Amino acid sequence: MADIDVRPPRQALSAAGCLLGLALAVAARPAAAQTASTEAFPTPSGSAELYRAACASCHGADGAGAEPSAVAFEEALPDFTECSFATREPDADWVAIAHEGGPVRGFSRMMPAFGAALSKDQLQRAMDHLRTFCGSDSWPRGELNLPRALVTEKAYPEDEAVLESAIAVQGAGSVQNQIVYERRFGARNQFEVVLPFGWANRGQAEGRPEGEDTWVGGIGDIALGVKRAMLHSLRSGSILSLAGEFILPTGNEADGLGKGTVVFEPFLSYGQLLPASSFFQFQGGVEIPFDTEKAENEAFWRATLGTSLVQGRWGRTWSPMVEVLAKRELAQGEPTHWDLLPQLQVTLNARQHVRLNVGVRIPLDDADVRSTEILFYFLWDWFDGGLSDGW
Ligand code: HEC
Repeated sequence: MADIDVRPPRQALSAAGCLLGLALAVAARPAAAQTASTEAFPTPSGSAELYRAACASCHGADGAGAEPSAVAFEEALPDFTECSFATREPDADWVAIAHEGGPVRGFSRMMPAFGAALSKDQLQRAMDHLRTFCGSDSWPRGELNLPRALVTEKAYPEDEAVLESAIAVQGAGSVQNQIVYERRFGARNQFEVVLPFGWANRGQAEGRPEGEDTWVGGIGDIALGVKRAMLHSLRSGSILSLAGEFILPTGNEADGLGKGTVVFEPFLSYGQLLPASSFFQFQGGVEIPFDTEKAENEAFWRATLGTSLVQGRWGRTWSPMVEVLAKRELAQGEPTHWDLLPQLQVTLNARQHVRLNVGVRIPLDDADVRSTEILFYFLWDWFDGGLSDGW
C-alpha cells in the first residue's frame, strides 16, 4: 500500500454528514477498509452523483459548504458558489487537493484525500460538477493565469503584491526596485499601483577624491493603472486584456530617477495556453509623454515563451521562460533595442501563492552602453492567504 498519510477527520462524522463522502475518505486508508466501503457504497459514475456521494456531506449539495453545526470541525468551508474565489483556481490544483488531501496545497487535513478511493478521472468529474456552482462565465478561469514573467505584463487580472529588483552587473552600478500592488475588481478588472525606488552610481563628483563615487537614491515615477480582460476562453486557452497606465513625475528628474512629465501608457496583453503545459504571452503598447520636450514617444513589445514542470506528481512548480523585449523611440531613424531575458520561476510554498523568479536581461545591441542586469521578483498572491500560510 502506498505510503499516503491520510487521516480523515473521524470527528467530521456527524449524523447528517455520515455519507459516502466519508466512507470514501476512510476507504483511502488501508486496502481492507477500501474494499469494504466501496462494496458497501458502489461508486457512481455521473459527475453530479460523484460530487453528491463524495463531497456534498461537507461542501453542501449546493457547493456553499455545509452548516457549521452539520460538521464537527472548526475549519471554514470554502464557498464554491462564489465566482470570485472559485474561478481563479485551476482544476489541476483542486484535483491535487482532492487526490492528496488539503495539506498538499497547505490546507487543512480536514479536507481528506480521496486518491486511494477515487481515480483522478473520477475526481475530475466531481470537479466538473463543482464548477457548475458559479453560474457565471464572465470570470476568466485560473488556467489562464499564466506564470508571471519578469517584464511582460500578463493578461490575467490579479490580486498580487510583487517586489521586483534589477541589478546592473556592468558599468557604474545601479539597483532599481519596484513594489507592485494589484487588486481585482468585478469579474474582469484590476487596478495597479507601482512604486519604484532605487539607487544609481553617478560616478565621481567634481572636487571629490578619486574612488569616491556619488550614489543617488530615492523614489521614482509612481504609476497607476487599470486593466480589463476583454476576451477570455478556456476552450481556446486564450485571454486578451486592454490596459492603461498613468506614470506620474514623482521621481527626481535631476537625479535621473524620473522623467519629469506625466506619461500615458496604453497596452495590450495576450496569453495563450500551448500543449504540454507550455504557454505564450505577449504585451505591446506605447508610452506617450505629456511633455515631449522631456521624453519621446516610445513603442514597446514583449513576448514570453515558457513551460511549467511539476516536481514529483503534485509538488513544486518550476517554470522556465524566455522573454524577448523590444523598444523603439517613435522618431525617424531611431533604432530598435532588443533584450533577451531567460529566467526561472519557482513556487516557494505548498499553496503555490508565494513565488520567486530570477533571470538575466542581456542587451542584444548597444551592449557597450546598456548593461546586463540580474532581475528577480518575489511574488505574493495575497488573495490565497497570508505570507506565512500554506507552507
Ligand atoms: C470531511 C469533509 C470534507 C469532504 C468529504 C470533502 N471536503 Fe473538500 N474541504 C474540506 C475542508 C474542511 C476544506 C477547507 C480546508 C482549508 O481551508 O484549510 C476543503 C477544501 C477543499 C478544496 C480547496 C478549496 C480552496 O480553498 O482552494 C477543494 C478543491 C475541495 N475541498 C474539494 C473537495 C472535493 C472535490 C471533494 C469530494 C471528492 C471534497 N472536497 C470532499 C472538507 C471536506
